[in-house]
Amino acid sequence: MNLNLACRQLFIANRRLKGKFQYTVPAPATYPYQWFWDSCFHSIILSHFDLISAKKEIFSILFRQFQNGMIPHMIYWDKTNKTNFPRISWGKDGTSTITQPPMLAYAVWQIFQIDKDIIFLKSVYPHLYHFYKYLLIERDPHEKHLIGIMNPDESGEDNSPRFDLPLNLPVKQTLKANTEQRLRLVKQNIECHFDAPFCMRNFFWVKDVPFNSIMVTNLKLLAEIAKKIDQDEDADYFAKEAEAISLAMREFMLEDDIFWSTYGENYKKIKVKTWAIFAPLYAKIITQGEAKKLVDDHLLNKNEFWTNFPVPTTSLDEPSFDPSGFWRGPTWVGANWFIYKGLLNYGFSDVAEEIKKSSVALIQKSGFREYFNPFIGEGLGAQNFTWGGLVIDMGQQRA
Ligand code: GLC
Repeated sequence: MNLNLACRQLFIANRRLKGKFQYTVPAPATYPYQWFWDSCFHSIILSHFDLISAKKEIFSILFRQFQNGMIPHMIYWDKTNKTNFPRISWGKDGTSTITQPPMLAYAVWQIFQIDKDIIFLKSVYPHLYHFYKYLLIERDPHEKHLIGIMNPDESGEDNSPRFDLPLNLPVKQTLKANTEQRLRLVKQNIECHFDAPFCMRNFFWVKDVPFNSIMVTNLKLLAEIAKKIDQDEDADYFAKEAEAISLAMREFMLEDDIFWSTYGENYKKIKVKTWAIFAPLYAKIITQGEAKKLVDDHLLNKNEFWTNFPVPTTSLDEPSFDPSGFWRGPTWVGANWFIYKGLLNYGFSDVAEEIKKSSVALIQKSGFREYFNPFIGEGLGAQNFTWGGLVIDMGQQRA
């Protein structure tokens, strides 16, 4: 398969138009709407071959930003879709009422690197400002400098075993039982009138390692964006916030050389090894020595993450590991992309190349599937799933 060509075709097939808006569905038969972090990935991928569509993808995300700055993780542009996607009562019309990992500034910056279009930056900046301010304020009410999520789905890793403890679920569980708990939180959010900092935090409040790592990298890039359009005060503010989150992550999450997600008021560490332990590489918040230890002891460890088709999303030695269990074991190209970028940050280009090779091999073998068995590479979940396109962005350090 010519991967570049196949990717372009996939993006055309998954493209949807609604009035003056254009967006890409992650998988037509399974995920027929627009998802926030998926669209950030789409922009990153499209920036390699269709800059106009990359920008349109960003504008469509921004269209339904809430008054308080939050960007919903789903937009139901076309509700007549006849798929099996569950009907969820989010409490608002046309969108969900939770968000997803804040990859927006990264996507915008990557687009800007290509054509240096200041007008584009100026037109999206107020939305970005409002969104990241929302996260910094509403999701960190006690100014501890860690951003809280109020539903596992906000991490983008719906049933990851990182959330078993805060959801009060046993290690061995069905997807149905897990989904029920998450839907309960959706209902709770409506009862809370969508108040994250003072109401929802009583029901689920996790300081997640990837979410905060993504926040650090994106805040640094947001500071660059602000500088480009002469918003120097904003630039200082966002850069300082990025630094504060890095320090808080170290203070509250680090133990035994690993950054763990935490939950609850007392920052209880959730010591479950998932790919999340590599996210700090992407945020560049650890030392070279710490990075080497992570790679040697865990990533390249055959009893943990080094399978035939790395990187499994959950470590093999976790009791929750399940090679076909959605986010409980399979390899996802999205997670691989973060690890790939993180490895390059620390000069581990050979290992990064292995991750890229694994991602390409999975798609060559099984097509654009949602996730893959990490031992045999069998394709699982949705078909014609867009994230495989991220392999096109593995190879160069743009943002
Ligand atoms: C699944 C994934 C989530 C993604 C969505 C649409 O729910 O877990 O990360 O945004 O599908 O692709």
